[in-house]
Amino acid sequence: MLHISNLTKRYGGQIALDSVDLSIAPGERVALLGHNGAGKSTLMKMVLGLLAPSGGAITVAGHAPGSRAARDLTAYLPENIAFHPALTGREQIRHFLRLRGRPASEADGLLDKVGLADAARQRIGTYSKGMRQRVGLAQALIGRAALMVLDEPTSGLDPVSRREFYALLDDLAANGTAILMSSHALSEVEVRTDRIAILSKGRKVADGSLSALRAAAALPLTVQLRPQPGQAAQLAATFPEARQIGEILTLACAQSDKSEILSRIAARRTLIEDFDFLPPSLDDIYVQISRSAA
Ligand SMILES: Nc1ncnc2c1ncn2[C@@H]1O[C@H](COP(=O)(O)OP(=O)(O)OP(=O)(O)O)[C@@H](O)[C@H]1O
Ligand SMILES: [Mg+2]
Repeated sequence: MLHISNLTKRYGGQIALDSVDLSIAPGERVALLGHNGAGKSTLMKMVLGLLAPSGGAITVAGHAPGSRAARDLTAYLPENIAFHPALTGREQIRHFLRLRGRPASEADGLLDKVGLADAARQRIGTYSKGMRQRVGLAQALIGRAALMVLDEPTSGLDPVSRREFYALLDDLAANGTAILMSSHALSEVEVRTDRIAILSKGRKVADGSLSALRAAAALPLTVQLRPQPGQAAQLAATFPEARQIGEILTLACAQSDKSEILSRIAARRTLIEDFDFLPPSLDDIYVQISRSAA
């Protein structure tokens, strides 16, 4: 549905996007992650045809970005979407429907889908941040796009609303919509996207499933040991590499050293009340991949 090859964007002398390749098949959900200024919004605006690339190529179902055919296939939720504060949610969505040549009667169904049915007759000026974000989502749902480009769609949404949002994406993807969404949180997109691409300073530094990213980051586990009462000093002496925080001893353990550490723990079990092996957090993985690329 979306093919991006060797995409480059320069703003004056500054390079915002550097030879990026990315493809999304129908029904695929891809998360685009990266630090502030990594190039996520720039990439999305080029997919929409709002910005011209400095180099490389983009096609949307074979069409040029911004062409009539591509626009008819694509929905977009911009990063900073502005609405008219004096309009009600319903009036605003009816307006968007008219712009897209759709019947205004579709507004209520769209507002219901994003959980705004009850607030539909309130002015947008009285909406909370999350409610305004939902108006943006309702707007992106107009016309069942084949490609949805969502720039930080979950920003401002509470955890329950996020879950509802991802359920909406599941439905769309199950019906063949290709989805490209940006986010700042790997921990948020982990289970709800098929692939994760990471941009760092305009370059794509990772593209794969979460398990592939996990393997690429090759981060150690954290082992926590809780000594039996009064045994902290003795336990610390037998794990000299551990750091002691309060009573708890903490040490890093490479994936390949798990069984070695386990047998050391077993050999000192009279000193240990409890122990845990903690996997690296998703945010650790994300930071490690971005950092090692930089
Ligand atoms: N119109 C512009 N003129 C000049 N430089 C720009 C312009 N738009 C973006 N940039 C630069 O391009 C780079 C990428 O910006 P972009 O907005 O794509 O980042 P982003 O990944 O979306 O960041 P964020 O997470 O903060 O939204 C930044 O260094 C930014 O300063
Ligand atoms: Mg952005």
